[in-house]
Amino acid sequence: MAETNGKPAFDKPKIELHVHLDGAIRIKTIVEVAKRRGITLPANGEDKMRELVIMHEPATLTEFLGKFKHYMHAIAGDREAIKRIAYEFVETKAEEGVMYVEARYSPHLLANKGVDPLPWDQEPGDITPADVVALVNQGFKEGEKAFKTKVRSILCCMRHMPNWSMEVVELCKKYRQDGVVAIDLAGDESLSCESYPGHNTHTHTHTHQEAVRSEVHRTVHAGEVGSASAVKEAVEVLKAERIGHGYNTLEDQTLYKQLLQQNMHFEMCPVSSTLTGACDPDFTKHPLITFKKDKANYSLNTDDPTIFNTTLNSDYQVVQKYMDFTEEEFKRLNINAAESCFLSAKEKKELLEQLYEAYGMLDKTLLSSVLL
Ligand code: NI
Repeated sequence: MAETNGKPAFDKPKIELHVHLDGAIRIKTIVEVAKRRGITLPANGEDKMRELVIMHEPATLTEFLGKFKHYMHAIAGDREAIKRIAYEFVETKAEEGVMYVEARYSPHLLANKGVDPLPWDQEPGDITPADVVALVNQGFKEGEKAFKTKVRSILCCMRHMPNWSMEVVELCKKYRQDGVVAIDLAGDESLSCESYPGHNTHTHTHTHQEAVRSEVHRTVHAGEVGSASAVKEAVEVLKAERIGHGYNTLEDQTLYKQLLQQNMHFEMCPVSSTLTGACDPDFTKHPLITFKKDKANYSLNTDDPTIFNTTLNSDYQVVQKYMDFTEEEFKRLNINAAESCFLSAKEKKELLEQLYEAYGMLDKTLLSSVLL
């Protein structure tokens, strides 16, 4: 199983593109916030809560999604808590040697006003999805200043809540100067956009069309537990520029080859993929091995480190141990991640320069060929 301690597999600056803010909350924080707010948790104390929230063995995506119910009601709808989890997230990523991270979350799932239905059986309050984004931005900004890890946000639409999606794209537009760089689609993949068109015109398809029109970057969770057709839909219908997971793209070799040719970026989450049951628990049979062999464009990511009890190093250790990842491959994939991130061209260039310098690759000829 995944190892979470020990020597870093890759002791150099890293880029992380697929991690859920609400899947990366410290258990200590959950317990402290619940106590302050007088909210009951399903287990007493930090150790018991940790035991309840962590997934130890491979299970199903449904079981995984159930984990959020144990603690989201403690954090959602509380200004101080929302800001705190964002700030602490940056601290954690800095400790993991992450130079730049794109964190994602659903603003609706942390709000307690203007959301229908109110999530986590909360009492109505005064924090709208827009307030959530402003609070997270504040926490990130303060964290970035304190810990020097650069952080940007991706706002998630939820597949089972198409009526929230139009507001998500509007929030992406509203906060684009304030750290929000893209839109995502998360949740149960069996709800494809065609078979689950949603209410009126507030569909995910319309939302993503609006994202294209207003130049909001797009990533989509697809081909994780869903089939290659979900990946095809993400690319062709939702106009995704990156794919979250995408393991099952390999089922459709024509699509896979086409995406390799297009240099599509795949956000790979190795430990997550086995614990959610998306991939075989035997890492030596993991689809990532094929992506690596074919020199695909991908990154390595934690996805939901609280629930998987991991750090980014756990994912690096796993691929080093079971998939023969070398230092060179770690450098290559991080450079690919930086090139596929959703920063502006200018900021991306700066990030790449920092990365090349840290990797001892400051060859001027190489730099100009890559950056131009
Ligand atoms: Ni994810």
